Amino acid sequence: MAVISVANAKGGSGKTTAAVLLATEFVQRGARTALLDCDDLKLAAGWARSARLGEGLTLVDTVAVSNLAGYLKALRATHQHIVIDLSGARDALVAFAVGLSDLVLVPVQGCAMDSRGAAHVLELIDLVGANSHRTINRAVVLSRVNPLVTTRALRSVKALLDGAKIPVIDTPVIERAAFRDMFETGGTLYSIAAGRTSNLDKAILNMQAFADAVLRFAVGNDGRKPLARAQAGAVAGATQPAMAFPAP
Ligand SMILES: Nc1ncnc2c1ncn2[C@@H]1O[C@H](COP(=O)(O)OP(=O)(O)OP(=O)(O)O)[C@@H](O)[C@H]1O
Ligand SMILES: [Mg+2]
Repeated sequence: MAVISVANAKGGSGKTTAAVLLATEFVQRGARTALLDCDDLKLAAGWARSARLGEGLTLVDTVAVSNLAGYLKALRATHQHIVIDLSGARDALVAFAVGLSDLVLVPVQGCAMDSRGAAHVLELIDLVGANSHRTINRAVVLSRVNPLVTTRALRSVKALLDGAKIPVIDTPVIERAAFRDMFETGGTLYSIAAGRTSNLDKAILNMQAFADAVLRFAVGNDGRKPLARAQAGAVAGATQPAMAFPAP
């Protein structure tokens, strides 16, 4: 069970894409999943309606500061995973959602490292955590990574973030036409007809590895959340496997 928010004040960093990929893969694995669309543009909601995932996916697109805690309480009782797609706004809903999440993912566009929006969200997470006297688990997701970018270049980005003690999800989200097409054609990567979009198989493998990496981070191989492991004396991040890089 995990409440996973996706946040970055920078528009277009890949928040909605990451949220939709996680929701798709969780449902595919049989986990009852809720997708909360907190953006006025309602792109995630539009996708969810087109995805026809039936009982597996619950869409909530009427989230506000006043009802978020209530929604989460009800959904936690009935759903295995809750994915919250936040807007790029710097508003109270973002701060509130961050405070109620088990994990906050911050997509940062691949090697461009255009990280100003991300830095803002990471500061906000730490502020919310300090105010509520808890550590909020957060990790950067390298998103929209060019498939031709070398493993070495990605490793150096990860090293940079490691130096700043910011954990990185060990599978990046690659730039793939299929990740764009699913919003246009509707449906999930599993329902798009092969041949309609290029490299669909590679996109599906990337989505699966990404979901694995996020779940490993959210819950850990030993079933305990990272915070519990840290409190038990483990060095945060020390048990993470090396980054997994898909073939171009
Ligand atoms: N991995 C990817 N491969 C291909 N296209 C992508 C990928 N990630 C994002 N995009 C495209 O980039 C654009 C922005 O992505 P997305 O909507 O996920 O970002 P966002 O952070 O949710 O943006 P916003 O701040 O507007 O909510 C969209 O057109 C999306 O289809
Ligand atoms: Mg979005």
